[in-house]
Amino acid sequence: MLILSVESSCDETAVALVEDGRRVLTDQIFSQADLHAVYGGVVPEIAARSHLEVISILAERALIAAGVTRADIDAVACTYAPGLIGAVLVGVNFAKSAALALGVPLIPVHHIRGHIAANYLAYPELEPPFLCLAISGGNTMLVDVRDYTDMRILGQTRDDAAGECFDKSARVMGLGYPGGKPIDDLSRQGDDGRYDLPRPYVGQNPYDMSFSGLKTAVINIAHHCEQTGEELDKAGLAASLCRAVSESLVGRTMAAAGELGYDKIAVAGGVAANSRIRGDFEAACQKAGAKLFIPPLKLCGDNGAMIGAQGYYEFLAGHTADSSLNAYASMAL
Ligand code: KG4
Repeated sequence: MLILSVESSCDETAVALVEDGRRVLTDQIFSQADLHAVYGGVVPEIAARSHLEVISILAERALIAAGVTRADIDAVACTYAPGLIGAVLVGVNFAKSAALALGVPLIPVHHIRGHIAANYLAYPELEPPFLCLAISGGNTMLVDVRDYTDMRILGQTRDDAAGECFDKSARVMGLGYPGGKPIDDLSRQGDDGRYDLPRPYVGQNPYDMSFSGLKTAVINIAHHCEQTGEELDKAGLAASLCRAVSESLVGRTMAAAGELGYDKIAVAGGVAANSRIRGDFEAACQKAGAKLFIPPLKLCGDNGAMIGAQGYYEFLAGHTADSSLNAYASMAL
């Protein structure tokens, strides 16, 4: 089954062609990062306009790159939630029009389910059930993936997402937007014990997380240096931050895996590209005798292929929509 899949929830426009949920024929991605960099973060209006400008071109390019015609497409899938509402709407409306014009089913896909499904593309042998930590710019959650379309959130951030913590910390350190990668790169030259950063604990649910206190601590250190003239050890701060975020995530994930008896642990989302987090998960899974699934870097960030992968399983579960489909800024998993 060939699915044309569309992603437009934030600042990447992507159109992919995916076969049977597992084989990527092409994934055309346009990153808007340069458009937003000057503002230090994503400007929703600019994001929506940019999606509109490039989405049809990416779809045309996808057909050419995959060597297929419109008649070969069996269904159209799109991210319909969560995300920046204007941005998501562009993808949903494009997908609705394409499905109508082609006379094929329309499949709505939850963005975080898509991130989790990126692992199906990277690991053909991976099947639910497994535990997945989904860490991106807008969401951070620990998910019990009981089946392809049956998921339960075990814990999530009470405030900022892990990616937001990286992006805002990078801004105050003058590292630009998006900040996760520059912090990751810089951290490799720094001492991860240089700054004492908090490891927030959230009461009631041990699997819930919090990153706003960590972000504030980084901002306070940077401001303190600015005000007193003390030199900021940026590499040390980057390394200390990566360590603090990683320890917040890895410990909880391994504890949940132990409690639920999972020996298959997946990680997904843009922040899964972080080298410290990847390394710490490798070590923790090896120690626990668990198998780690973590997508290659190109499948960690937003892409169209992950929507086609999850879209396939949503279709098999009978989850299709008609042209009344709407876009939503937030939506339960
Ligand atoms: O999954 P994604 O592309 O978009 C959302 O769905 O939100 O994630 C983007 C986030 C940004 O916050 C970005 O700074 C972060 O992923 N990121 C990283 C790294 N690469 C991207 N964070 C830490 N280390 C990285 N290497």
